[in-house]
Amino acid sequence: MERKRNKISLSHRVQNIAPSITLEITGKAKEMKAKGIDVLGFGAGEPDFDTPENIKQAAKKAIDEGFTKYTPAAGTPELRKAVAEEFKTDTTIDYDSSQIVVSCGAKHSLFNILQVILNEKDEVIIPSPYWLSYPEMVKMAGGVPVFVLCDESDGFQLKMKNLVKKITPRTKAIIINSPNNPTGCILGRKILKDIAEFAVENNIFVISDEIYNKIVYEGESESILKICPELKDLAIVVNGVSKSFSMTGWRIGYMAAPKPIASAISSYQSHSTSNPASIAQKAAYAALKGDREFVGGMVKSFRDRRDYMLGKLSEIPGVSCVRPGGAFYVFPNISKLGMKSADFAASLLEKAHVAVVPGVAFGWDTHIRLSYATSMEVIKKGLERIEKYIKSL
Ligand SMILES: Cc1ncc(COP(=O)(O)O)c(C=O)c1O
Repeated sequence: MERKRNKISLSHRVQNIAPSITLEITGKAKEMKAKGIDVLGFGAGEPDFDTPENIKQAAKKAIDEGFTKYTPAAGTPELRKAVAEEFKTDTTIDYDSSQIVVSCGAKHSLFNILQVILNEKDEVIIPSPYWLSYPEMVKMAGGVPVFVLCDESDGFQLKMKNLVKKITPRTKAIIINSPNNPTGCILGRKILKDIAEFAVENNIFVISDEIYNKIVYEGESESILKICPELKDLAIVVNGVSKSFSMTGWRIGYMAAPKPIASAISSYQSHSTSNPASIAQKAAYAALKGDREFVGGMVKSFRDRRDYMLGKLSEIPGVSCVRPGGAFYVFPNISKLGMKSADFAASLLEKAHVAVVPGVAFGWDTHIRLSYATSMEVIKKGLERIEKYIKSL
């Protein structure tokens, strides 16, 4: 019997996944650029600096020495040890290498974590504004994202009184991200301590995405585990080299977790991607073991750009902006302009040739995200155009 040919039918798993709003905007901006239009972009989610020379040299050496074969799925022993040392500094916890899994970017680490801890309909609490991949990754793992609004009037801090309302018997985890994408907010010690106690009391995991923890302008961005080491059996810490060492394309991220989770992720990864690229692992090792002068210089440039942007944005009527403590984004409020974020972003691109990311992508339709991982020249020209555009409304 001939099988009926049906139309392309996708799995239920992917039908629920939102297309990326950022890709839509960047696609349009690219199209305009290709037509010769001078588009200025504030969309970048990656540092505009080159990867440091010592890291590139380590990768070249790996190639020359033939380090081009499979490695253990969870990463090379030397890199896992270096990652464990890095996490020791950040969290004070003594992780064994068997608790570390290196993956193809922090995004991949987060994906793996959700795949191994979630069952169908398990809920994951996500403070909002949030990095746009969290809810989609939770859904891909069969879970349900549950959002808790942060308080803009308090620098986008999370409030316990709002968080406690979100717990249900199905809550499995909370994802925290400090410094935050898109707000740049750094969670304070008190709230981190409260979240840790809340997690222990309710027996839920804390997934702490600390990918921006070296890009900080004031004070320190502390790991929840440094403040509450007793959380270690419920905490999964994520970091990577993408942002701190300007290595987004190398695709190396990592996590530390209780042993059963780390070994489940290692098996899961062994049947999906296997190890991350051997050469990139050598490069990441050089990054972690090398000097950190590059990071300091990059953070200094970002700080100057942030200060300039905040000053300029404060002069634009109808726009207000919380001062970010870390990462490389500002998240101004445009609600007084009477436009939804996607309409504003589309019109700004069309009329002023400036690309920004609409806040709706991060759960807030009243804001836009501007990355300052771009040159001062672009920042100055772009903000002038934004000001002129807003004044014309
Ligand atoms: C909050 C956050 N977590 C994780 C990632 C992923 O980083 P990676 O490039 O290491 O996958 C990003 C990248 O934009 C991010 O903003």
